[in-house]
Amino acid sequence: MTGRFLFPADFVWGAATSAYQIEGSPLADGAGPSIWQRYAHTPGMMANGDHGDVACDHYRRYRSDVQLMKALGLQSYRFSINWARVLPEGTGRINPAGLDFYSRLVDTLLEHGIVPNATLFHWDLPAALDDRGGWLNRDSAHWFAEYAEVLFKALDDRVPMWATLNEPWVVTDGGYLHGTLAPGHRNLYEAPIAAHNLMRASGAAIQAYRGVGRHQVGVVFNIEPKYPASERADDVAATVRAHAYMNQQFADPALLGSYPPQLKECFGDAWPDFPASDFGLTRQKVDFVGINYYTRAVVRDDPAQSPLRASPVRQPNRTHTETGWEVYEQGLIDTLAAFAQRYGHTPLYITENGAAFYDPPVVEGDTLDDPLRVDYLRRHLRALHKAMADGANVKGYYAWSLLDNLEWSLGFAKRFGLVHVDFATQKRTPKASARFYAQVIASGGASLG
Ligand code: BGC
Repeated sequence: MTGRFLFPADFVWGAATSAYQIEGSPLADGAGPSIWQRYAHTPGMMANGDHGDVACDHYRRYRSDVQLMKALGLQSYRFSINWARVLPEGTGRINPAGLDFYSRLVDTLLEHGIVPNATLFHWDLPAALDDRGGWLNRDSAHWFAEYAEVLFKALDDRVPMWATLNEPWVVTDGGYLHGTLAPGHRNLYEAPIAAHNLMRASGAAIQAYRGVGRHQVGVVFNIEPKYPASERADDVAATVRAHAYMNQQFADPALLGSYPPQLKECFGDAWPDFPASDFGLTRQKVDFVGINYYTRAVVRDDPAQSPLRASPVRQPNRTHTETGWEVYEQGLIDTLAAFAQRYGHTPLYITENGAAFYDPPVVEGDTLDDPLRVDYLRRHLRALHKAMADGANVKGYYAWSLLDNLEWSLGFAKRFGLVHVDFATQKRTPKASARFYAQVIASGGASLG
């Protein structure tokens, strides 16, 4: 240990999860169904027929899971709230038992000295709202603000960090354009409308927070930096389009109050002229932005691909994770620099970073070696340290994920956890990466080298 990688003393070390991926008991105690409950029970949608009915059974085991977090030395825990537990129809009637679950979770975290960081929407829209058009309905902004205010009023006395949305890009790209995630639509005309309403909703929730909240509110984006496959002008232009679509489509309306011109260029008539007055709502002052960073993409021009006319190029001789993502820590450094350049010095958190790798079976003595995940984390934490030394305003880091969990439509086979979960017995076994991360936390980063 040289102390070369020491992080600031007030840097926040945490881990993240999301409701549908870990909780199980999706309809317990009066909860309404979500679109993920519906999607997962639609034949053919989920790998291996997996679903979130039990998942990590966290709804019933949250207490021991918090003890596990404590044992790892986590200082903060980022979780999400299943909207339909609290408002079974999405608006109107509150389900006290659903709200009480999150209240008990928060109290348990606080008893263990762990700071709760709550995300209001990690993809599980109440099915009742999908029946009313979901994110395609302009009223969704008001539905979301109503729900957000219920949570702020109930928990802001104990929850100091709130995020409105997790990764709106994934919601619209997977849920409305390609149909690979709930609600499973495939429609070029719908995706821009859902995207715009998501950002109106985020803005409306932030406005609600300013009325009733006393701490910090922000929004979480997935950022995947794009690099041209060659210096040819068409590859460079394709890279700019891919970057606008994935990395600016949501951050721009939230932080700049506009859309990058490439979106209209790509979507043509499917990209509506949104009312100028909407941007006063989408652009709200945020206390922080969460960035989820996993990988990069190298991009080439590809006229066959609608709507972007761009394709990723797999890089030979590089390590790729089980989800096919290149391990590329320099992308985190580049992302943080580019973000500050475009959007200014807003405080940032890395709200997700991690990797799915094939894990060997749990061996005798309750250990499990996951050297590739350890290497991934080490590389990215060192890169983060470098980015901060270069001036990135990052206040904390959350590993994805605390537990192996339901990787959405890819099912349980893709394991991102620091802690292994045996889904037959629900036994938790911390992997070598959990011990590695616990050491990083205990040493404030010094153990990184
Ligand atoms: C999401 C998580 C997901 C992870 C790994 C992010 O897109 O927020 O829910 O499990 O990445 O794919």
